[in-house]
Amino acid sequence: MEPTPTSPRDTRRSDRGTVPVVALHHLTKRFGTALAVDGLDVELTAGSITGFLGPNGAGKTTTFRLLLGLASPTSGEALLFGRPYRELANPTRHVGALLESSDVDPGRSGRNHLRVLALAAGVEVARVDELLELVELGDAAHRPAGTYSLGMQQRLGLAAALLGDPELLVLDEPANGLDAAGVHWLRGFLRQYVTSGGTVFISSHLLAEVAQTVDQALIIDRGRLVATVSMRDMTDSASLERLYLDLTDKDEA
Ligand SMILES: Nc1ncnc2c1ncn2[C@@H]1O[C@H](COP(=O)(O)OP(=O)(O)O)[C@@H](O)[C@H]1O
Ligand SMILES: [Mg+2]
Repeated sequence: MEPTPTSPRDTRRSDRGTVPVVALHHLTKRFGTALAVDGLDVELTAGSITGFLGPNGAGKTTTFRLLLGLASPTSGEALLFGRPYRELANPTRHVGALLESSDVDPGRSGRNHLRVLALAAGVEVARVDELLELVELGDAAHRPAGTYSLGMQQRLGLAAALLGDPELLVLDEPANGLDAAGVHWLRGFLRQYVTSGGTVFISSHLLAEVAQTVDQALIIDRGRLVATVSMRDMTDSASLERLYLDLTDKDEA
């Protein structure tokens, strides 16, 4: 879907290059005595796909929740386009998110689910059918979402994330439940989204799911950033896998 020259997305992009799309400044989240996120410093600029890789429990979901204003940091800050999520004037037009737990009413059709979200977000309802086609759910749109396969649920979640035509997509383990064809589809989809000017921050606990999809990888373990890898510097996927396993807890991965 090509944004038209008059779309609000383009005007918002005038300050591109000056303000990072995502900025985490010494971001820290403690649950009781446990440090879930431990002093993360990250800046993402527009127009690339960044993988957020780490074993289960590394702190990926917590970081995304902090970024999206769903939890408050113990210290440090998480900024989107230079502001905390709660201070964004039109959040759905800036960022779309797919988080682990989706709250889809299983009795509601995929189309109705998106229509409700569109109404709540002040998005034209016509966009719903456009998005259903985009994520290839057009034929299943009338079916109750409870009958969807995991892969279809992920694509419905992706459509929901895209409702506001956001500049940034934050996707928490979107490849979970996708088969090889689904992962391939997601890769092509995200590449197109980035080519048309979007930015993607995508997590996975499985390196192989995203190694071919991302431009750079942030590797986290026990809440800490342990490596930032540009995929251009990786000669082969085996060397990235070695690095990933060396840097993270193998028994947890
Ligand atoms: N609401 C919570 N209360 C207590 N501990 C939590 C909570 N959410 C996450 N944690 C803990 O924080 C750590 C990081 O979890 P999480 O961010 O879900 O990791 P990941 O998404 O990388 O698997 C884990 O040890 C997890 O048990
Ligand atoms: Mg998680």
